[in-house]
Amino acid sequence: MTRLPFLLACVGFAATFASGAAATETYVDGFHHISTLNNSLVIKAVPSERLKVVYYGASISEADIAGLAASGLTGYESYPAYGPSGHSDYALAVRNADGNITADLVVESVAEWEDESGKGIRVCLKDTVYPLVVDVFFKAYDDVDMISTWTEIRNDGKKPVVLTEFASGTMQFRARDLYVSHLYGTWANETQVVCEKLNPAGLVIENRDGVRNSHTSHSEVMISLDGEPRENSGAVVGAALCYGGNYRLKFRTGDSGWHNFTAGILSDNSWYTLGTKESLETPELAFTYSDEGLSGASRNFHSWARKYKLAHGDKERKILLNSWEGVYFNIEEQGMAQMMTDIADMGGELFVMDDGWFGGEKYPRNNDSSSLGDWSVDKTKLPGGIEGLVKMASDRGISFGLWIEPEMTNSVSALFEEHPDWVLQAKDRELIYDRGGTQLVLDLCNPEVQDFVVKVVDDIMTANPQIDYIKWDANACIHNFGSTYLPKDRQSHIYIEYHRALIDICKRIRAKYPDLTIQACASGGGRANYGILPYFDEFWVSDDTDALHRIYMQWGTSYFFPAIAMASHISAAPNHQTFRSLPLKYRIDVAMSGRLGMEIQPKNMTEAEKDMCRKAIADYKKIRPVVQFGEIYRLQSPYDERGVASLMYCTEDKDEAVFFWWKTGKKYAEIYPKVRMAGLDPDRRYVVTELNRIDVKPLAFEGMSFSGKFLMEEGLEIPRDNDVPYNDKFWESSRVLHLIAE
Ligand code: DGJ
Repeated sequence: MTRLPFLLACVGFAATFASGAAATETYVDGFHHISTLNNSLVIKAVPSERLKVVYYGASISEADIAGLAASGLTGYESYPAYGPSGHSDYALAVRNADGNITADLVVESVAEWEDESGKGIRVCLKDTVYPLVVDVFFKAYDDVDMISTWTEIRNDGKKPVVLTEFASGTMQFRARDLYVSHLYGTWANETQVVCEKLNPAGLVIENRDGVRNSHTSHSEVMISLDGEPRENSGAVVGAALCYGGNYRLKFRTGDSGWHNFTAGILSDNSWYTLGTKESLETPELAFTYSDEGLSGASRNFHSWARKYKLAHGDKERKILLNSWEGVYFNIEEQGMAQMMTDIADMGGELFVMDDGWFGGEKYPRNNDSSSLGDWSVDKTKLPGGIEGLVKMASDRGISFGLWIEPEMTNSVSALFEEHPDWVLQAKDRELIYDRGGTQLVLDLCNPEVQDFVVKVVDDIMTANPQIDYIKWDANACIHNFGSTYLPKDRQSHIYIEYHRALIDICKRIRAKYPDLTIQACASGGGRANYGILPYFDEFWVSDDTDALHRIYMQWGTSYFFPAIAMASHISAAPNHQTFRSLPLKYRIDVAMSGRLGMEIQPKNMTEAEKDMCRKAIADYKKIRPVVQFGEIYRLQSPYDERGVASLMYCTEDKDEAVFFWWKTGKKYAEIYPKVRMAGLDPDRRYVVTELNRIDVKPLAFEGMSFSGKFLMEEGLEIPRDNDVPYNDKFWESSRVLHLIAE
């Protein structure tokens, strides 16, 4: 196949446009190859024809692209519009001012572009009759396997156009033995893995919360292309819609033998009007392909996240104590001082003061029914103010952070009294309240409100620049569907404008405070998504801190998000959500598989328990780079209900690994599967050391070395129980093994 000299913006002429691993190549016949280290996307963009996807998957050679072109393969339409494609699925639907509800998009031009993280192609599509322009973007990221797509839809006409459907992109999968793994749940039970065979009836995954979007469903999926999903083998496409608001991911199957996958902002009650020269940019839809199973696709997501989609993805996270489950709203200075002393004494590095510190004299925040918006410190509880707390932390050699919920207010607050028009509200209707019976969502569509939210952070940080960490919470959904700021013909824009404003706010805060660590919390795990994460360092997985439940939730979370982003805390026994008492070792061993922290009142712990945590924190510091930057290999799923769950992290150079094993079974004398390791170098030998050891005798293989080959083909026999004195025995055993190459 002829590769022709590069000429920007002209179809059919081009050359390699590459640096790093990402590349775009343009060939004759309108074929364009967008590639990463191991993935390829081939599109066909010929003027006056519809834009087609010809191939997506493992890297493809130039010769094979030539073969595809010569065979006359046409592929499927990349961005179908309701009009020519109304009988099947479509990404775009419009209502023109004259009543015509169709669009028909053909290629106008193609241009190559480049930014700091990759290279791309922009295909400009134009309606054949109406002045509607759709730029379709494709991007290959440098040094990771991720190719994404999104669009910019523009009205070049004089009359408004209403967009009634505006997905980010599509992909088609040949039907047969396709399985979709995705996450589902609810508050305190987030990220449960659901796996469904794709049937002709299709599958729709949606979110309609308005504010938080990952409690129930998630906007990421794994698509196993060759039968039931396996962790470490098999062809998998992972997809993530990078968006923090309402979304819809759908698989529809026509009679063609193909599953149509379309993903984007949920258009229900969000029809979007474009005036003259106005445009809408749809969120990025990212794809990765791996032939190393679900774990392989996860590794691709994790590298991409750490490199491009997570704030400070290359920086180790501090070990912290968060005050919530320790004291709830009972914030007072002595209590905070004691918690800081305790976490510092156990080797922790950061203390975070949760809800309950603000509100001032008129509306002190003593429970969840008042004060959001009144972000001044409650001096009755904290006479020395935030300043005093920051100093206490620094005197103890640790950093300080605090909780805010800046997108919200309560009807019982000075803010609401002063600005009742600042909350989302449907005209002439009574307000509907959320948490605490008084909570309301601020109208971020309003620029004055945006300024206020930025100022909340700015005031706190200006007064106390040493603050290291902010836990940014959001505990309500949108109930009141209206904005006093938006004009009456744009009320359906609230969901979209809310999230556009939130990202602008985040950008403004990040521009001024680039080093601040910020956690995305939203009633637990409501904000684990790649729309928001570029501005946040991590997220709170769930308000359920029960370690056994966390194994299931963190397993699901790890499909798409790296351990460095996954806040995972040691909490009390009995657990505050499930009232189950799990051994401290088990709670520690689970928490150490993510970003370790504590969510507990240390003054209620015995000295022996504190010692155990002190030792665990010291050990976590040793394995932190492996867990936080390592490559995940999930080995035995808790969802298989085989009595154990196990996963490991290996460094990229395979010098070091950490193996986690947790008993999840319920039956006595159950025979557990022997877990084979993965991700090691078969030709090197690894010395095995158990961390958090409580057994009276070391494990039989303690301190011994084994080849990577043996560990991966045979595995170690993990005893079913921890070997402790009879009176200390417990059911839930667990192990953490540190492997270091000789
Ligand atoms: C919900 C969060 O998920 C909790 O961790 C805690 O911060 C509370 N909000 C505080 O109100």
